[in-house]
Amino acid sequence: MRHWIGGLLAALLPILPAAAQPDALVARGRQLVEGIAACGNCHTPKGPQGDVAGMAYAGGFVIDIPGAFRAVVPNITPDPETGIGRWSDAEIARAIRDGKRPDGSTIGPPMPIELYRDIADADLAAIIAYLRSVAPIRNAVGKSSYPMPLPPSYGPPVAGVAAPADDPVARGAYLAGPLGHCIECHTPMLADGRRDWSRTGAGGVPIPGPFGMVVPRNITPAALSGWSDAQVIRAITQGISADGGRLSPPMAFPYYARMSDAELRDVVAYLRALPPLR
Ligand code: HEC
Ligand code: HEC
Repeated sequence: MRHWIGGLLAALLPILPAAAQPDALVARGRQLVEGIAACGNCHTPKGPQGDVAGMAYAGGFVIDIPGAFRAVVPNITPDPETGIGRWSDAEIARAIRDGKRPDGSTIGPPMPIELYRDIADADLAAIIAYLRSVAPIRNAVGKSSYPMPLPPSYGPPVAGVAAPADDPVARGAYLAGPLGHCIECHTPMLADGRRDWSRTGAGGVPIPGPFGMVVPRNITPAALSGWSDAQVIRAITQGISADGGRLSPPMAFPYYARMSDAELRDVVAYLRALPPLR
Protein backbone atom coordinates (compact mmCIF):
# COMPACT_ATOMS: atom_id res chain seq x y z
CA MET A 1 0.00 0.00 0.00
CA ARG A 2 2.66 2.42 1.12
CA HIS A 3 4.66 1.47 -1.88
CA TRP A 4 1.78 2.06 -4.17
CA ILE A 5 1.00 5.60 -2.83
CA GLY A 6 4.67 6.44 -2.87
CA GLY A 7 4.87 5.34 -6.47
CA LEU A 8 1.79 7.31 -7.39
CA LEU A 9 3.14 10.45 -5.71
CA ALA A 10 6.47 10.02 -7.39
CA ALA A 11 4.70 9.74 -10.72
CA LEU A 12 2.52 12.81 -10.06
CA LEU A 13 5.13 15.10 -8.54
CA PRO A 14 6.86 16.09 -11.75
CA ILE A 15 3.45 16.90 -13.27
CA LEU A 16 1.81 18.85 -10.42
CA PRO A 17 4.23 21.76 -10.05
CA ALA A 18 4.41 22.13 -13.82
CA ALA A 19 0.63 22.35 -14.12
CA ALA A 20 0.43 24.83 -11.21
CA GLN A 21 3.15 27.05 -12.62
CA PRO A 22 1.73 29.93 -14.67
CA ASP A 23 2.96 30.29 -18.16
CA ALA A 24 6.16 32.36 -18.25
CA LEU A 25 4.65 34.99 -20.55
CA VAL A 26 1.69 35.55 -18.20
CA ALA A 27 4.07 35.72 -15.22
CA ARG A 28 6.19 38.36 -16.95
CA GLY A 29 3.02 40.26 -17.87
CA ARG A 30 1.79 40.15 -14.29
CA GLN A 31 5.11 41.48 -13.01
CA LEU A 32 4.81 44.46 -15.39
CA VAL A 33 1.06 45.20 -15.20
CA GLU A 34 0.81 44.75 -11.40
CA GLY A 35 4.18 46.46 -10.89
CA ILE A 36 5.93 49.23 -12.78
CA ALA A 37 3.22 49.71 -15.45
CA ALA A 38 0.50 50.04 -12.77
CA CYS A 39 -2.29 49.83 -15.37
CA GLY A 40 -4.76 49.34 -12.50
CA ASN A 41 -3.80 52.70 -10.98
CA CYS A 42 -6.15 54.07 -13.66
CA HIS A 43 -8.09 51.03 -14.94
CA THR A 44 -9.30 49.76 -11.52
CA PRO A 45 -12.02 51.86 -9.85
CA LYS A 46 -11.05 53.53 -6.56
CA GLY A 47 -12.76 53.78 -3.18
CA PRO A 48 -11.59 55.41 0.04
CA GLN A 49 -9.20 52.45 0.61
CA GLY A 50 -7.72 52.58 -2.88
CA ASP A 51 -8.48 49.95 -5.53
CA VAL A 52 -12.02 48.53 -5.13
CA ALA A 53 -11.76 44.78 -4.30
CA GLY A 54 -13.06 42.39 -6.97
CA MET A 55 -13.03 45.09 -9.66
CA ALA A 56 -9.49 44.76 -10.99
CA TYR A 57 -9.21 46.36 -14.46
CA ALA A 58 -13.01 46.77 -14.71
CA GLY A 59 -12.79 50.52 -15.43
CA GLY A 60 -15.17 53.28 -14.44
CA PHE A 61 -12.66 55.43 -12.58
CA VAL A 62 -13.08 59.06 -13.67
CA ILE A 63 -10.05 61.30 -14.13
CA ASP A 64 -11.40 64.84 -14.24
CA ILE A 65 -8.89 67.57 -14.97
CA PRO A 66 -11.00 70.74 -15.13
CA GLY A 67 -10.19 72.75 -18.24
CA ALA A 68 -8.41 69.79 -19.87
CA PHE A 69 -10.64 66.68 -20.08
CA ARG A 70 -12.91 64.27 -18.25
CA ALA A 71 -11.65 60.75 -18.91
CA VAL A 72 -13.76 57.71 -18.01
CA VAL A 73 -11.27 54.85 -17.84
CA PRO A 74 -12.45 51.79 -19.83
CA ASN A 75 -12.93 48.18 -18.74
CA ILE A 76 -9.90 46.16 -19.97
CA THR A 77 -10.93 42.79 -18.53
CA PRO A 78 -11.73 39.95 -20.99
CA ASP A 79 -15.50 40.50 -20.62
CA PRO A 80 -16.82 40.20 -24.21
CA GLU A 81 -19.63 42.77 -23.80
CA THR A 82 -18.15 45.54 -21.68
CA GLY A 83 -14.41 44.78 -21.78
CA ILE A 84 -11.91 43.83 -24.49
CA GLY A 85 -12.72 40.10 -24.67
CA ARG A 86 -13.58 40.26 -28.38
CA TRP A 87 -10.41 42.12 -29.38
CA SER A 88 -7.58 40.13 -31.01
CA ASP A 89 -4.05 40.32 -29.60
CA ALA A 90 -3.10 42.56 -32.52
CA GLU A 91 -6.01 44.88 -31.77
CA ILE A 92 -5.04 45.15 -28.09
CA ALA A 93 -1.41 45.80 -29.11
CA ARG A 94 -2.55 48.56 -31.47
CA ALA A 95 -4.65 50.14 -28.69
CA ILE A 96 -1.77 50.19 -26.22
CA ARG A 97 1.08 51.24 -28.54
CA ASP A 98 -0.67 53.17 -31.33
CA GLY A 99 -3.63 54.53 -29.34
CA LYS A 100 -6.19 53.19 -31.85
CA ARG A 101 -9.28 51.10 -31.07
CA PRO A 102 -10.50 48.38 -33.47
CA ASP A 103 -13.13 50.87 -34.76
CA GLY A 104 -10.32 53.27 -35.71
CA SER A 105 -11.05 55.87 -33.01
CA THR A 106 -8.16 57.46 -31.11
CA ILE A 107 -7.58 56.74 -27.41
CA GLY A 108 -7.17 59.97 -25.43
CA PRO A 109 -5.14 61.09 -22.42
CA PRO A 110 -4.15 60.40 -19.76
CA MET A 111 -3.56 56.91 -21.27
CA PRO A 112 0.20 57.47 -21.83
CA ILE A 113 0.36 56.45 -25.49
CA GLU A 114 3.38 58.61 -26.43
CA LEU A 115 5.48 56.62 -23.96
CA TYR A 116 3.76 53.27 -24.63
CA ARG A 117 4.88 53.55 -28.28
CA ASP A 118 8.31 52.46 -27.00
CA ILE A 119 7.20 49.34 -25.08
CA ALA A 120 9.34 46.47 -26.38
CA ASP A 121 7.59 43.76 -28.45
CA ALA A 122 8.27 40.98 -25.92
CA ASP A 123 6.87 43.04 -23.04
CA LEU A 124 3.80 44.06 -25.04
CA ALA A 125 3.08 40.38 -25.75
CA ALA A 126 3.48 39.61 -22.02
CA ILE A 127 1.16 42.47 -21.00
CA ILE A 128 -1.52 41.22 -23.43
CA ALA A 129 -1.15 37.62 -22.23
CA TYR A 130 -1.66 38.77 -18.65
CA LEU A 131 -4.69 40.95 -19.49
CA ARG A 132 -6.29 37.89 -21.11
CA SER A 133 -5.73 35.90 -17.90
CA VAL A 134 -7.51 38.26 -15.47
CA ALA A 135 -11.11 37.65 -14.37
CA PRO A 136 -13.68 38.98 -16.85
CA ILE A 137 -15.87 41.57 -15.10
CA ARG A 138 -19.08 42.90 -16.55
CA ASN A 139 -19.02 46.65 -16.04
CA ALA A 140 -20.25 49.09 -18.65
CA VAL A 141 -18.67 52.52 -18.28
CA GLY A 142 -19.49 55.86 -19.91
CA LYS A 143 -17.53 57.82 -22.48
CA SER A 144 -14.71 60.30 -21.95
CA SER A 145 -15.09 63.87 -23.06
CA TYR A 146 -12.32 65.91 -24.60
CA PRO A 147 -12.92 69.58 -25.36
CA MET A 148 -10.57 69.45 -28.34
CA PRO A 149 -10.65 66.77 -31.04
CA LEU A 150 -8.06 64.04 -30.41
CA PRO A 151 -5.28 63.72 -33.01
CA PRO A 152 -6.07 61.30 -35.86
CA SER A 153 -3.01 59.32 -34.72
CA TYR A 154 0.04 59.48 -32.46
CA GLY A 155 2.33 58.83 -35.42
CA PRO A 156 2.93 56.05 -37.92
CA PRO A 157 2.00 52.55 -36.66
CA VAL A 158 4.77 51.18 -34.44
CA ALA A 159 6.56 48.50 -36.44
CA GLY A 160 8.62 46.84 -33.71
CA VAL A 161 10.59 47.81 -30.62
CA ALA A 162 13.69 46.01 -29.28
CA ALA A 163 14.33 45.50 -25.56
CA PRO A 164 16.59 48.14 -23.91
CA ALA A 165 20.37 47.68 -23.85
CA ASP A 166 21.61 45.42 -21.05
CA ASP A 167 22.85 48.23 -18.83
CA PRO A 168 21.35 49.56 -15.54
CA VAL A 169 20.76 53.14 -16.77
CA ALA A 170 19.24 52.00 -20.09
CA ARG A 171 16.99 49.50 -18.32
CA GLY A 172 16.05 52.15 -15.73
CA ALA A 173 15.21 54.67 -18.48
CA TYR A 174 12.95 52.06 -20.08
CA LEU A 175 11.23 51.29 -16.75
CA ALA A 176 10.76 54.98 -15.80
CA GLY A 177 9.75 55.94 -19.37
CA PRO A 178 7.87 53.54 -21.68
CA LEU A 179 6.76 51.08 -18.98
CA GLY A 180 6.17 53.23 -15.90
CA HIS A 181 5.72 56.75 -17.30
CA CYS A 182 7.31 58.19 -14.11
CA ILE A 183 8.84 60.90 -16.26
CA GLU A 184 5.47 61.91 -17.70
CA CYS A 185 4.22 63.07 -14.31
CA HIS A 186 7.60 64.39 -13.19
CA THR A 187 8.38 66.57 -16.27
CA PRO A 188 6.93 70.06 -16.91
CA MET A 189 4.67 70.79 -19.87
CA LEU A 190 5.24 73.17 -22.79
CA ALA A 191 2.58 75.69 -23.83
CA ASP A 192 1.39 73.30 -26.59
CA GLY A 193 0.66 70.56 -24.06
CA ARG A 194 3.66 68.36 -24.89
CA ARG A 195 6.26 67.51 -22.25
CA ASP A 196 9.43 69.58 -22.08
CA TRP A 197 11.89 66.66 -22.32
CA SER A 198 14.81 69.11 -21.98
CA ARG A 199 13.67 69.30 -18.33
CA THR A 200 13.03 65.58 -17.70
CA GLY A 201 12.46 64.90 -14.00
CA ALA A 202 12.52 68.56 -12.93
CA GLY A 203 8.97 68.34 -11.55
CA GLY A 204 5.58 68.22 -13.20
CA VAL A 205 2.18 69.74 -13.67
CA PRO A 206 -0.06 69.98 -10.57
CA ILE A 207 -2.63 67.14 -10.40
CA PRO A 208 -6.07 67.75 -8.85
CA GLY A 209 -7.96 64.93 -7.15
CA PRO A 210 -9.75 63.79 -3.99
CA PHE A 211 -6.33 64.11 -2.32
CA GLY A 212 -6.27 67.86 -3.08
CA MET A 213 -3.77 69.41 -5.48
CA VAL A 214 -0.38 67.66 -5.62
CA VAL A 215 2.72 68.67 -7.52
CA PRO A 216 5.01 65.93 -8.89
CA ARG A 217 8.35 66.85 -7.32
CA ASN A 218 11.83 67.28 -8.74
CA ILE A 219 13.44 63.80 -8.96
CA THR A 220 16.70 64.80 -10.67
CA PRO A 221 19.98 64.64 -8.69
CA ALA A 222 19.50 68.36 -7.90
CA ALA A 223 16.80 67.22 -5.49
CA LEU A 224 17.78 63.61 -4.66
CA SER A 225 21.61 63.81 -4.36
CA GLY A 226 21.44 63.83 -0.56
CA TRP A 227 19.14 60.77 -0.48
CA SER A 228 20.44 57.21 -0.04
CA ASP A 229 19.31 54.59 -2.57
CA ALA A 230 17.17 53.06 0.19
CA GLN A 231 15.42 56.39 0.76
CA VAL A 232 14.64 56.76 -2.96
CA ILE A 233 13.29 53.19 -3.05
CA ARG A 234 11.19 53.81 0.08
CA ALA A 235 9.66 56.90 -1.56
CA ILE A 236 8.79 54.90 -4.70
CA THR A 237 7.41 51.79 -2.99
CA GLN A 238 5.98 53.16 0.28
CA GLY A 239 5.27 56.80 -0.47
CA ILE A 240 7.51 58.13 2.30
CA SER A 241 9.81 61.09 1.53
CA ALA A 242 13.38 61.36 2.86
CA ASP A 243 12.17 63.53 5.78
CA GLY A 244 9.61 60.85 6.73
CA GLY A 245 6.65 62.82 5.32
CA ARG A 246 3.80 60.90 3.62
CA LEU A 247 3.52 61.32 -0.14
CA SER A 248 0.09 61.58 -1.69
CA PRO A 249 -1.49 59.66 -4.58
CA PRO A 250 -1.90 59.40 -7.53
CA MET A 251 1.68 58.06 -7.72
CA ALA A 252 1.14 54.27 -7.77
CA PHE A 253 3.03 53.24 -4.59
CA PRO A 254 1.15 49.92 -3.95
CA TYR A 255 1.97 48.81 -7.51
CA TYR A 256 5.61 49.91 -7.34
CA ALA A 257 5.90 47.93 -4.07
CA ARG A 258 5.63 44.81 -6.28
CA MET A 259 8.63 45.77 -8.42
CA SER A 260 11.64 43.47 -8.14
CA ASP A 261 14.80 44.65 -6.35
CA ALA A 262 16.62 44.60 -9.69
CA GLU A 263 13.97 46.83 -11.31
CA LEU A 264 14.14 49.29 -8.41
CA ARG A 265 17.95 49.41 -8.56
CA ASP A 266 17.77 50.15 -12.29
CA VAL A 267 15.26 52.99 -11.78
CA VAL A 268 17.51 54.52 -9.11
CA ALA A 269 20.54 54.23 -11.44
CA TYR A 270 18.56 56.09 -14.11
CA LEU A 271 17.38 58.87 -11.75
CA ARG A 272 20.99 59.35 -10.57
CA ALA A 273 22.12 59.68 -14.19
CA LEU A 274 19.62 62.46 -15.07
CA PRO A 275 21.06 65.95 -15.57
CA PRO A 276 20.58 67.82 -12.27
CA LEU A 277 17.91 70.49 -12.88
CA ARG A 278 16.41 73.08 -10.59
C1 HEC B 1 -2.83 57.37 -16.39
C2 HEC B 1 -3.98 56.50 -16.55
C3 HEC B 1 -3.84 55.25 -17.39
C4 HEC B 1 -2.86 54.29 -17.31
C5 HEC B 1 -1.66 54.22 -16.37
C6 HEC B 1 -3.20 53.28 -18.28
N1 HEC B 1 -4.35 53.63 -18.94
FE1 HEC B 1 -5.24 52.58 -20.45
N2 HEC B 1 -6.57 54.09 -20.71
C7 HEC B 1 -6.72 55.20 -19.90
C8 HEC B 1 -7.81 56.02 -20.39
C9 HEC B 1 -8.29 57.32 -19.77
C10 HEC B 1 -8.31 55.36 -21.54
C11 HEC B 1 -9.50 55.83 -22.41
C12 HEC B 1 -9.24 57.15 -23.07
C13 HEC B 1 -10.40 57.56 -23.95
O1 HEC B 1 -11.55 57.51 -23.48
O2 HEC B 1 -10.18 57.92 -25.12
C14 HEC B 1 -7.52 54.14 -21.70
C15 HEC B 1 -7.73 53.21 -22.72
C16 HEC B 1 -7.11 51.97 -22.76
C17 HEC B 1 -7.47 50.92 -23.70
C18 HEC B 1 -8.59 51.00 -24.74
C19 HEC B 1 -9.83 50.37 -24.16
C20 HEC B 1 -11.14 50.78 -24.81
O3 HEC B 1 -12.14 50.06 -24.62
O4 HEC B 1 -11.21 51.83 -25.46
C21 HEC B 1 -6.66 49.85 -23.43
C22 HEC B 1 -6.65 48.50 -24.12
C23 HEC B 1 -5.80 50.24 -22.33
N3 HEC B 1 -6.11 51.53 -21.96
C24 HEC B 1 -4.85 49.41 -21.76
C25 HEC B 1 -3.93 49.84 -20.79
C26 HEC B 1 -2.84 49.04 -20.29
C27 HEC B 1 -2.54 47.63 -20.71
C28 HEC B 1 -2.15 49.82 -19.39
C29 HEC B 1 -0.87 49.49 -18.65
C30 HEC B 1 0.23 49.04 -19.48
C31 HEC B 1 -2.85 51.09 -19.31
N4 HEC B 1 -3.92 51.07 -20.17
C32 HEC B 1 -2.47 52.13 -18.49
C33 HEC B 1 -5.92 55.51 -18.82
C34 HEC B 1 -4.77 54.83 -18.43
C1 HEC C 1 0.62 59.94 -11.70
C2 HEC C 1 1.78 60.80 -11.56
C3 HEC C 1 3.05 60.17 -11.02
C4 HEC C 1 3.71 59.07 -11.48
C5 HEC C 1 3.32 58.12 -12.61
C6 HEC C 1 4.90 58.95 -10.68
N1 HEC C 1 4.95 59.94 -9.74
FE1 HEC C 1 6.44 60.26 -8.40
N2 HEC C 1 5.34 61.71 -7.49
C7 HEC C 1 4.16 62.23 -7.99
C8 HEC C 1 3.68 63.25 -7.09
C9 HEC C 1 2.41 64.07 -7.26
C10 HEC C 1 4.63 63.33 -6.03
C11 HEC C 1 4.56 64.25 -4.82
C12 HEC C 1 3.50 63.74 -3.84
C13 HEC C 1 3.31 64.66 -2.68
O1 HEC C 1 3.80 65.80 -2.71
O2 HEC C 1 2.68 64.23 -1.70
C14 HEC C 1 5.66 62.34 -6.33
C15 HEC C 1 6.78 62.08 -5.53
C16 HEC C 1 7.86 61.29 -5.91
C17 HEC C 1 9.08 61.15 -5.17
C18 HEC C 1 9.39 61.82 -3.82
C19 HEC C 1 10.12 63.13 -4.00
C20 HEC C 1 10.25 63.91 -2.71
O3 HEC C 1 10.93 64.96 -2.73
O4 HEC C 1 9.70 63.50 -1.70
C21 HEC C 1 9.91 60.34 -5.88
C22 HEC C 1 11.33 59.90 -5.53
C23 HEC C 1 9.18 59.94 -7.08
N3 HEC C 1 7.94 60.55 -7.05
C24 HEC C 1 9.67 59.10 -8.06
C25 HEC C 1 8.85 58.48 -9.02
C26 HEC C 1 9.23 57.34 -9.80
C27 HEC C 1 10.61 56.71 -9.83
C28 HEC C 1 8.14 56.98 -10.54
C29 HEC C 1 7.97 55.80 -11.46
C30 HEC C 1 8.31 54.48 -10.91
C31 HEC C 1 7.09 57.94 -10.24
N4 HEC C 1 7.55 58.83 -9.30
C32 HEC C 1 5.84 57.94 -10.84
C33 HEC C 1 3.50 61.83 -9.16
C34 HEC C 1 3.84 60.71 -9.93
